[in-house]
Amino acid sequence: MAARNPVSFHVPGHKHGELFPESARKSFAQILPLDMTEIPGLDDLHAPKEVIAEAEMLAADFFQSDHTFFLVGGSTAGNIAMLLASCSAGDQVIVQRNSHKSVMNGLELCAADPIYIAPEYNQELGRYTAPSYASLKKALELYPSVKAVMLTYPDYFGDTYDIGEMIELVHTYDIPVLVDEAHGVHFSLGDPFPPSSLELGADIVVQSAHKMAPAMTMTAFLHINSRFISKERVAYFLQMIQSSSPSYPLMASLDISRAFLATLSPRDVDAVMESVRSVREILNATDQLEVLPYIRTHDPLKITLHVKHLYHVKDVTRILEGENIFPELVTHNQILFIHALHPFTQVYRLRHAMKKVQEQLKFTHNSATMDIKDIFMQPIQQLALSYQEMSQLPYKRVPLDEGVGHIAAEAIIPYPPGIPLVLKGERITKAHILAMEQLQKQGVGIQQRDEGLQVYRF
Ligand SMILES: Cc1ncc(COP(=O)(O)O)c(C=O)c1O
Repeated sequence: MAARNPVSFHVPGHKHGELFPESARKSFAQILPLDMTEIPGLDDLHAPKEVIAEAEMLAADFFQSDHTFFLVGGSTAGNIAMLLASCSAGDQVIVQRNSHKSVMNGLELCAADPIYIAPEYNQELGRYTAPSYASLKKALELYPSVKAVMLTYPDYFGDTYDIGEMIELVHTYDIPVLVDEAHGVHFSLGDPFPPSSLELGADIVVQSAHKMAPAMTMTAFLHINSRFISKERVAYFLQMIQSSSPSYPLMASLDISRAFLATLSPRDVDAVMESVRSVREILNATDQLEVLPYIRTHDPLKITLHVKHLYHVKDVTRILEGENIFPELVTHNQILFIHALHPFTQVYRLRHAMKKVQEQLKFTHNSATMDIKDIFMQPIQQLALSYQEMSQLPYKRVPLDEGVGHIAAEAIIPYPPGIPLVLKGERITKAHILAMEQLQKQGVGIQQRDEGLQVYRF
């Protein structure tokens, strides 16, 4: 369409880039002609019949779903829509406690009654991973009439687990399984990547295209393959929560990323894996740091660097940032790097930066610890108040050190990874406060507008 040089008497106001502030025109010059609207020939995301329908069908064919929806509001929109499509006010839903905030927001919008199952704590890694099969089984025995089970797979660090056996178990209860697979869009490529939960029988799977595939930020896919939930119901909620003017550059980039994945050859994948090996080797070459070993259930594109306890993570990232190298995520003792689906081209710069780390990183005795193993103490947990009750209660702010025992009126969310430390509606414990104090000390960003804690007033 852009090649036809169309005349615009419609939105958007930049008229294919004709009208745009001079200072920014050059940077936007290539993209604005593509930034169109629903004129004839360009279809409509919310009722696709032409090019968008065709692109979604190609995606469904590649990902092996019954239907694939293009999303322009990220996995965030997908998680919210699939929860809205699966449950109504007061319905119980089993949810992995360490889910992304979009899942928690989806539950609140449904006014559902979440039954949280705690993830396992991995002592060696110093972090929570996934819930165990046994805890899911127990939750299903206690709450057999839940309307859905919502899991996250893989986690932010690329760890997976045997989600297939969990899906099988949940299906014996005739309950749908919803999966936040935001970090696994490339899993449909097959070996050496872990299997996608879609392939393992999940009912609805949401994947951020922008996280691991070459797609623009905010793009995601929602795949459905379910005998429990209809695609019409999902479409209904998607048109409600997504913009009525979806971005064509974003939608086009979804189609492009699908084409990229579908045409990646085994040789291309071998070249990526070769590059992963070489990046791991470079990151592993200093005495102070150690790359966590690669295991087959792990996404090879996620590389975690463990900082030995005599050194400070912040000192490592400061040196890397000085060399303009930015990792994805930093915890108190680990740094997560995401390798592209493409061989790494800046080997020299990474080698140089790691040499600087080796030379400059001083022994400081890292006193930064995160005592988080008591955060998700209860294997199966419900909120202290229902969302209905919360919506009618007044709230107040209290200082952090006075929070214990109160019920949180807002979630406390370290970002990244965006997993609430405290849920809205959860009773605040000593372990929560301790973890928040430690996070603050370490300068971890917490998504909060004001100081202290917002709690309910009774
Ligand atoms: C596990 C998980 N789910 C969902 C999301 C939201 O994805 P998006 O940024 O595509 O909305 C994120 C974002 O980081 C995430 O880590």
